Amino acid sequence: GMQLVKCASKDAAGQYISDMFVGLVNAKPEAVLGFATGSSPLPTYRAMIAAYAEKKVDFSRCTSYNLDEYVGLPEGHPETYSAFMQANLFDSINLPSESVHVPAGCVPKGGEPLTPAEVDTLGDRYEADLERDGPVDLWLLGVGHNGHIAFNEPGSAADSRTRLVHLDAGTIEANKRFFDNDPSLVPTSAVSVGVGTILASRRIVLVAGPEKAEAVARMMDRSLGPDASCPASFLQTHPDVVVVTY
Ligand code: GLP
Repeated sequence: GMQLVKCASKDAAGQYISDMFVGLVNAKPEAVLGFATGSSPLPTYRAMIAAYAEKKVDFSRCTSYNLDEYVGLPEGHPETYSAFMQANLFDSINLPSESVHVPAGCVPKGGEPLTPAEVDTLGDRYEADLERDGPVDLWLLGVGHNGHIAFNEPGSAADSRTRLVHLDAGTIEANKRFFDNDPSLVPTSAVSVGVGTILASRRIVLVAGPEKAEAVARMMDRSLGPDASCPASFLQTHPDVVVVTY
């Protein structure tokens, strides 16, 4: 089922979700953690870094998986999701770098851009790694205005898996703020875990601010049910989802 938790502020929501991760890792030191990018998870990562600095948690035996990555940005570009995770979380906690997984979509240094076939092949490998290490114990998600989770845009199937995806015009518009406000600089494709990949995790926590109220209402609307027009609504079919709003 879906449980709704309303927090008083963005930072309170981040603290709440951080406490979920810290509690999990203290109970299960070898936990598999699922992470997300975007602005919504940032308060959570700040609180997790603080908990680590205060020696309230040890991530040394954990494994992590991220949701998605742009396709076509040069490796190391600050807007790659891999660089984002380094800067906003991994550089500041003791999760071993060999235990971190972010889907591959960047152009390797001195190399050629990945072909669509290569992106899909690397996606299959990502799924295989996840199959070996998983299931994910707790996966943190944001949600797009159009109801996307990771980069599963409307139309994505409930059983979709890690694959090459094309971004909706609205998603490119929403993300241009990270690219000098120039939509032509936003990658048009990405590699994303599927809805099915996300649903395979044991527990899911989705964070959404007031600007996502409409998407959250649709996601939770049982009368409309789970439907590909709002991929986040497939979370209705999962037994343990916590929706944290503020
Ligand atoms: C991005 C990401 C999603 C994220 C969403 C919302 O495109 N691929 O994983 O949840 O958009 O981002 P934000 O939290 O910045 O609103």
